[in-house]
Amino acid sequence: MERIGILTSGGDAPGMNAIIRAAVRAALASRLEIFGIRRGYTGLIRGDLMPLDRTAIRNTIHLGGTILETSRCPEFRIREGRVKAVEVLERENLDGLILIGGEGTFHGATLLAEESGMPLVGVPASIDNDVYGTDDCVGFDTAANCALEAIDRIRDTARSHERLFFVEVMGRDTGFIALTSGIAGGAEELIIPGEPIAVERIAQRLQTGFGIGKKHAIVVVAEGRNPGISFQIAREVRKYLDIESRVCVLGHIQRGGPPTVRDRVLGSRLGVAAVTALLDGREGWMVGEVRGEITYTPLKDTWMKKKPLRKDLKDLFSLLSE
Ligand code: F6P
Repeated sequence: MERIGILTSGGDAPGMNAIIRAAVRAALASRLEIFGIRRGYTGLIRGDLMPLDRTAIRNTIHLGGTILETSRCPEFRIREGRVKAVEVLERENLDGLILIGGEGTFHGATLLAEESGMPLVGVPASIDNDVYGTDDCVGFDTAANCALEAIDRIRDTARSHERLFFVEVMGRDTGFIALTSGIAGGAEELIIPGEPIAVERIAQRLQTGFGIGKKHAIVVVAEGRNPGISFQIAREVRKYLDIESRVCVLGHIQRGGPPTVRDRVLGSRLGVAAVTALLDGREGWMVGEVRGEITYTPLKDTWMKKKPLRKDLKDLFSLLSE
């Protein structure tokens, strides 16, 4: 193996640069040439490559976003798009590819591996944290801390005005950000994708809280596939509850900002692990971290198997939000 490529794809996540930096340093230490592919699969199809050296990744570990840029690429979902990508891989004489992203990225990577025979290794980075085969995805911790900071700030004003607040956080198919920031922020209620929105029950629980002396409350809502859904939920809850309420949608604020210690260290570990995996001939795997150990999961499993929300954390939330 002499020349490898690296790209970031799908939604950006804080800590992606830590992965790129670590992979570049590990590759150069093993005398590999490494090329960055700009804008994810879009750049792969267009052949938009740039050589990466120590200068390219200098002063990047603290930056959110991705220096390689990213995209969601509908063209890659069709075979014609992937055929163009394979042509680029052959033309550029790449011997291996590191793909940084989430479920959608690894779905595409599985097809690309089958169709190209190219050694591929995935690195999980997604604020949603919904990738099977790793306890945490890079970027999740930063996003959850961003949501927590917002909840803390909202609580100040909610308490001052004795209001009910709906704080909407990201999480398309899962509620990892909602659950963890809800526990850490002492939220009263949680609404997460895939679980029924029991408005009457939520209103009753909030009413019980007000009955025992609470003067304000926070409901954390994961946006699911309907960003802005909190406005509708708030209207529904108000039918049962006589308390002033407000909605705060956090949106893409959660995707930016400097990565936390956790995301920088996790990203650094996984970036090095990806290069080592390629050199060891472990192709078609995603590197991850489970209970502190580096693990390898077949790319197909990362998006076909579902990573459930931790039941112990859900139970903890229920107990502490009583
Ligand atoms: O990257 C994951 C995510 O932030 C989801 O939480 C959210 O539903 C989606 O991406 C938003 O995507 P976009 O930035 O393309 O609007």
